Amino acid sequence: MSILYESFILMEEMAVKCLSDVDKQTSNLNMYEVKTLKTHVFFVDKNVDDLNSCPQIIQAASYLQRGELVAFPTETVYGLGANAMSTAAVENIFIAKGRPSDNPLIVHIATTEQLHDIACDIPPVAYTLMEHFWPGPLTLVLPKKEAVSPRVTAGLNTVAVRMPNHPIALALIKASGLPIAAPSANRSGRPSPTTAKHVLDDLDGRIAAIVDGGATGVGVESTVIDCTTAIPTILRPGGVTKEDIEQVIGVVDIDRALVEKEAVPKSPGMKYTHYAPKAPLVVVHGSPAFLQRVINEKRAHGLKVGVLTTEEGRHTYEADVIISCGRRSDLRTVAKKLYDALRTFDETNVDLIYSESFPYEGIGVAIMNRLLKAAGHEQMMEK
Ligand code: TXA
Ligand code: MG
Repeated sequence: MSILYESFILMEEMAVKCLSDVDKQTSNLNMYEVKTLKTHVFFVDKNVDDLNSCPQIIQAASYLQRGELVAFPTETVYGLGANAMSTAAVENIFIAKGRPSDNPLIVHIATTEQLHDIACDIPPVAYTLMEHFWPGPLTLVLPKKEAVSPRVTAGLNTVAVRMPNHPIALALIKASGLPIAAPSANRSGRPSPTTAKHVLDDLDGRIAAIVDGGATGVGVESTVIDCTTAIPTILRPGGVTKEDIEQVIGVVDIDRALVEKEAVPKSPGMKYTHYAPKAPLVVVHGSPAFLQRVINEKRAHGLKVGVLTTEEGRHTYEADVIISCGRRSDLRTVAKKLYDALRTFDETNVDLIYSESFPYEGIGVAIMNRLLKAAGHEQMMEK
């Protein structure tokens, strides 16, 4: 666990403790500051015909209208939604997640009309990207409208916007009639949730409701691209690859912080350790034989060792826990399973996890970005 994450948890626990003292003196307590909410679970089949008139969606939307927090599935990961126009509602996201306040949120919309409530001076290239990739896992950073709470944008003069490609997310946003600020619905620092169970593991008792629409599809979060720079700049690799984007708008830049360890990221969220399982994780670049030698060495010292591998490698290793996160021959399956695999290690008693590495191409760029963050950049290379 990083020092930053630990101090965050500590600060959060202190805040909860102070607030319980306050609770004795006043009943006027923000309900998100104590962990005593009953989290309602609404089961919704994403394939039903008329989601817009689905009673569970309408009820979940009324929670959002009241300023409460509702987790919902998107095509990437589950999001934790709140009314993006209400500072008080957005505050609750930061409290429930224990999220650093300088990390801005993505605003989710269901129609292009909603875009004009939150963004202005939209460059032509942004419209081209919307046409090709919306609804879908591409988030555009655009100049923001005054009306958007500075709490959403962490004081920046830009706002990140996306239209998710998931029928439940779209129906919920439409039913609420609001732009919805939604980070991934995990406690800060943990792997993002790809099932409703992951959300409940992290946030049960801290949020008003969750719409359970089954497992998400893409598995890693959206690609974030800054459209305010002369050449659009990828700030976070994700579900839409650089190659996909370049086919549509030509050459794009990549934030230096994604390739240079010392550079300060333009996307504030990218500077935090993220996605971390409880046991330390090390990414290994090399042959299966090298990885096995590393495992043997640790086991010889009495440590329980886990391996994160793929279907192709799962019978190759001898270790205490072996988890496959998809097929190396189709990296989309790895993206889809990665966070679930990282969370599954938390249900085992491993002392240490080694992960295979993946090629830096296509969706592999996003996979390696998340894996290295989960590992706090701990890596081993075969000489
Ligand atoms: O797929 C996704 O994007 C998911 C689902 C729920 O939509 N959401 C998600 O949100 O991943 P979150 O909060 O975990 O990540 C948002 C990222 C962070 O890295 C944040 O720093 C960046 O977007 N971001 C938000 N607003 C920004 C802005 N105005 N400028 C630069 N980066 C921004
Ligand atoms: Mg997140």
